[in-house]
Parts: sequence; C-alpha cells; structure tokens
Amino acid sequence: MEGRFSTRWRFSRIMAMIQIIIGMFVIFISMASLHRFYNVSNLLHFSSIGACHKFDAITEGILHEGGYAPFDLKALSERIDEVLSQLSELQEKLESTAIKLSKNAKKGKNKVSTVGENITLVEFQRFLEDEVIRPLYDAHISLRLTRIPRPEDAVLGAHSGALTEDPLVNYFTVEETRKYITAKVNRDDMQNVYGLNKTYNTIGHTCVLMKEDLEKYMNYDVGSYCGDDWDLGQKLMLGGCDPLPRRRCLARASKLYQRPLPINESLWTIPDDGNVRWGKYKCRDFKCLSYRNPKRGYNKCVGCFDMEKEKLKWVTNGSLVDFMIKDVLNVKPGEIRIGLDVSVTTGTFAARMREFNVTIVSTALNLGAPFSDTIALRGLIPLYTTMSQRLPFFDNTMDLIHTSNFLDGWIELQLMDFILFDWDRILRPGGLLWVDRFSCARKDLDDYMYMFLQFRYKKHKWVVSFKSKTEVYLSALLEKPPRSL
Ligand SMILES: *[C@@H]1O[C@H](CO)[C@@H](O)[C@H](O)[C@H]1NC(C)=O
Ligand SMILES: *[C@@H]1O[C@H](CO)[C@@H](O)[C@H](O)[C@H]1NC(C)=O
Ligand SMILES: *[C@@H]1O[C@H](CO)[C@@H](O)[C@H](O)[C@H]1NC(C)=O
Ligand SMILES: *[C@@H]1O[C@H](CO)[C@@H](O)[C@H](O)[C@H]1NC(C)=O
Ligand SMILES: *[C@@H]1O[C@H](CO)[C@@H](O)[C@H](O)[C@H]1NC(C)=O
Repeated sequence: MEGRFSTRWRFSRIMAMIQIIIGMFVIFISMASLHRFYNVSNLLHFSSIGACHKFDAITEGILHEGGYAPFDLKALSERIDEVLSQLSELQEKLESTAIKLSKNAKKGKNKVSTVGENITLVEFQRFLEDEVIRPLYDAHISLRLTRIPRPEDAVLGAHSGALTEDPLVNYFTVEETRKYITAKVNRDDMQNVYGLNKTYNTIGHTCVLMKEDLEKYMNYDVGSYCGDDWDLGQKLMLGGCDPLPRRRCLARASKLYQRPLPINESLWTIPDDGNVRWGKYKCRDFKCLSYRNPKRGYNKCVGCFDMEKEKLKWVTNGSLVDFMIKDVLNVKPGEIRIGLDVSVTTGTFAARMREFNVTIVSTALNLGAPFSDTIALRGLIPLYTTMSQRLPFFDNTMDLIHTSNFLDGWIELQLMDFILFDWDRILRPGGLLWVDRFSCARKDLDDYMYMFLQFRYKKHKWVVSFKSKTEVYLSALLEKPPRSL
C-alpha cells in the first residue's frame, strides 16, 4: 500500500513539474519573439511612427535596403501559432494520461490489483521521450527556423510593383512549394562562370499533373519529422514529378537500425531486417521477399533477395545468353574501371564487379521491395533515379553500362531511343554496353534490335535465344566507337 501511494504521489509531482516547464516555455517563446520584433524595429529607427507602420515596413522589405535581412513576418506568426497549438495538444495529452492513470489506480484498489497505477521507470521514460521531449524539440526547431529570411525576389518584386515571377510559382498554393521553386539570389551577388547570380530549385513540369499529391507531400512542419511517406515521393517521381523538391523535414529511419556489417561480410549477406522501414511493403522481413513466396509484393528481379542464387550470377556457366564477367572484362583487359548498372537489382552485379576492382553505381527504385536500402546495406552505391531524368554523369565518362531486368519489351520505342542516346552520351569511346537478357516478344525483336544497332557499335557478342514460344532473350556486348570530329 505504501509503495503504491508513493508512486502516485511521485507521478503527480512530476506532472506538476512538466506543467511548470511548459508554462515557462510558453513565456520564453513569447518573450523571444517580442524581443526579436523589438530588435528589428530598433534597427529601423522608426521611433516616432506607430507600431502598425513598423509592421508594414517590415513586411514590405524596406529593411532590405538598409542592408538587413528581410524578415518573414507571416512565417513567424505561423510558426508561433503552430508551436502554441503543439503545446496545447501536449497539455491535453498529459491531462488525459493523468486521468487515465488515476482511474486505473482506483480500479486497482477495488480489485486489490496493482496493474495500471504502477508505471515502471522505463515506461515513464518512453512517455516523456515520445510525448514531451520530442514535441518540445520540434517546437524549438520550428522557432529557430523563423530566422531564415524569405526569398529576396518576392520582396523586391512586391516593392517595385513589376513582379518578375518565376514560372509556375502561383500555380502552387502550399507555401513550402512556392518557396522551393522561387529563384534564390546568391549571397554577395556571387556569379558562376556563366554570369548567373541566382540558383534555381526545379521540379519536373509534370508536377502540375499531380498537384494534389505534391501539395500533400510538401505539407509538413519545417524542421520536424517528415511523415512516413517515401512511397508518395516515389509515386510522384514515377509520375514525372522528377526531380522531386527537397524537403526541410527529418526523414524517418528504422527504429531498430543497427550499424552495417563490415565490407568483407556485407557484400554477400542479406542485411538485418531491422535496418529497413517495412511499413509500405507487403513483406515485413527479408525472408518474405524470397522467390518462393508468391506474396512477396514485387515482380522484377524475383530471386534477387536469395543470396545463394545471386552468388551464381555472372561467374558460373549458365545458358548462352549469360555472359561471364571475366569474359567481358577480358575484351578490354584493365580498361574497365567504372560503370553504371541500369537494372532492377539488389546490387549483386556491383558486388561481383567490386571483387574485380571495378566500381559500379546501381540504379534502384523501391518498387515493392527495399532495393535501394539493400544495395546500400551491402556496401554498394544505389542511385535512386527514375527514367524521367537525364543521367547525372558527364559525356564520355563511363567505361561500362550494364543493363538487365529493366528496359524489357514493354518500353515505347521513342522513349527507349532517348534513353539509349543518353547512355551513348555518357559511355566513353571504347566503353562497353552490356545488354543482359533483354527480353521481348518475338514479333518486336526486329524493332528492338534496330534500336541497339543504330549506334554502329562494334559487336563483341550477340546472342538471341528463346525464352518461350513467343518471347526471346537478347544478350549483347557492344563497344562504342571513337567519335572524334
Ligand atoms: C510494479 O510492477 C512490478 C512488475 O512490473 C512489480 O514487481 C512491483 O511489485 C509493482 N509495484 C507495485 C507497488 O505494485
Ligand atoms: C544579377 O545579374 C543580373 C544580370 O546578369 C543583374 O541585372 C542583377 O543586378 C544581378 N544582381 C541581382 C541581385 O539580381
Ligand atoms: C572481415 O575483416 C575483419 C577485419 O578487417 C576481420 O576481423 C573479420 O574476421 C573479417 N571477416 C570475414 C568473414 O572475413
Ligand atoms: C564454361 O563454358 C565454356 C564454353 O562456353 C567452357 O570452355 C568452360 O570449360 C565452361 N566452364 C565450366 C566451369 O563449366
Ligand atoms: C584487385 O586489387 C587488389 C589490390 O590492388 C589486388 O590484390 C587484386 O588481385 C585485384 N583483383 C583483381 C581480380 O584484379
């Protein structure tokens, strides 16, 4: 009885302390923001003009001409509103928790059971962490961010009356999107070699087709945790809203994240389940992604999460369409050092090539399974990119491009043409294009063959074999000719 009594007493004392802390925090916020206003007004020397005029002056950005950073009043008041609502939410939560606890305690007395009132130290710590400290921290970050001035263009434009508006800014309504795509003038008018003194953040123009999803994606608390919405981002990217805007929120990580394995073990080990956020997949662990499971939730690169199968690829004699890495590298001994694997993959090609001292970057989207995470956890480089974008490599730089499980017979020919020309651009003279088991309908083979042959590459290997009655595989090893003009 005595123990129970003291636990309750301690708990209520702690609740009281928390309330005091919150109260102090609110006072602190109010003072901090007032202090800030006061400072700003002082700098203006508007001592004889009323408060309203000060307000106007600040919002219109006259400050800017005095050399002081313009101040985003609207954002500040929004932030404060947000913080206050977060705090009141917090208070409600605390109160309801307290009521619940005391109810449980009463029940406990009647039944002579002590469950409920007896909250352990660990539980209490968790409660403090989740419900009190984190929201306070979020609020803190939100307030700090009000220091960031609004984009200067908007200020200048509003002031001069001749608004030079960036394309599409007004099409979007969520403030964060508008801020993102407004051009930012570099500090001290710093110019790049083309004389440009602004930096643009861009979003793919088809973002306008997915406006609703984009606005949802960009609607978050600056400085706080992002929603668990990476798949919404991926949907936008695949819908052509690519590149996706950056966001100023903290991406979530798995709660159970453990440090990765050392490289000599990670290359050929399926990573720990805890290192992946599984929420948006059908599977909840790596075992479930096995080719044996019909409900694995993905349909490209089936079997890629089965290491014993992966270990055989490109190093053991398979069918004629499966070239071996050592044969390919022997075409250009010592010359193949860096390359790109445009495939749906868990990184096995890059892992093998690493053993041959070749550095490979693997493209990967998380289409139904955590491909990108897996590649990274194996100690390899995943390039999280869609087909919408020009590859982020300069002309004539890559020694090798390998592709499998990717273009396959569904792709529209003109799209494929643009992609292949981009590959040709980044491949260096004498670089190799390794088409690995390109599969298509037999009737389409001629069209697709023309796609690859139009570049007049040197053919080192060229194999066509039947996949089924109506489908074929094409594997080829092609060398880009020198194009010195
Ligand atoms: C509190 O719970 C623990 C086990 O969770 C139990 O050992 C202990 O006796 C309980 N204390 C009281 C005061 O009921
Ligand atoms: C940037 O460059 C443009 C023309 O190149 C110039 O008119 C402008 O004054 C420069 N500075 C700013 C802050 O825009
Ligand atoms: C990996 O390397 C570390 C040291 O670099 C070594 O201690 C460990 O035994 C190696 N593991 C394997 C499986 O070779
Ligand atoms: C693999 O196939 C090649 C010919 O395609 C043959 O020369 C070689 O001996 C085979 N290697 C093994 C291990 O079967
Ligand atoms: C890779 O490089 C290491 C160190 O330079 C060397 O010992 C090894 O033989 C190389 N492997 C291959 C397959 O060339």
